[in-house]
Amino acid sequence: MSRIELCAVTDIADGGSAGFQVTEDDVSHDLIAVRKGAAVYVYRNSCPHQGDMLDYPAGQCMDDTKTHILCAVHMALFRVEDGECIDGPCFGEHLAAIDTTVEGDAVFIDL
Ligand code: FES
Repeated sequence: MSRIELCAVTDIADGGSAGFQVTEDDVSHDLIAVRKGAAVYVYRNSCPHQGDMLDYPAGQCMDDTKTHILCAVHMALFRVEDGECIDGPCFGEHLAAIDTTVEGDAVFIDL
């Protein structure tokens, strides 16, 4: 497992999201990061319904109220804090969470 500095907390608007493509050991990882205040949650950018990328436009995956992650393909809604689908075709399934820590303004992930 590798620890990688992903971004600064302030690179993501509060209540917003950002997309990242990280390459580690020649493997590319598409990730989506969501910020709520000082907390940042990172998930694989892949919907448990069909495996499609969540964001559209690129990097944007929050619903209009900025309270849930929204899959742009069939509009599944996921809780930000644990990635559980609370509405949509993959109800009860989870986004794949990435271990994430915030130190000061820096966001680190373990891949
Ligand atoms: S691919 Fe995300 S809800 Fe269908």
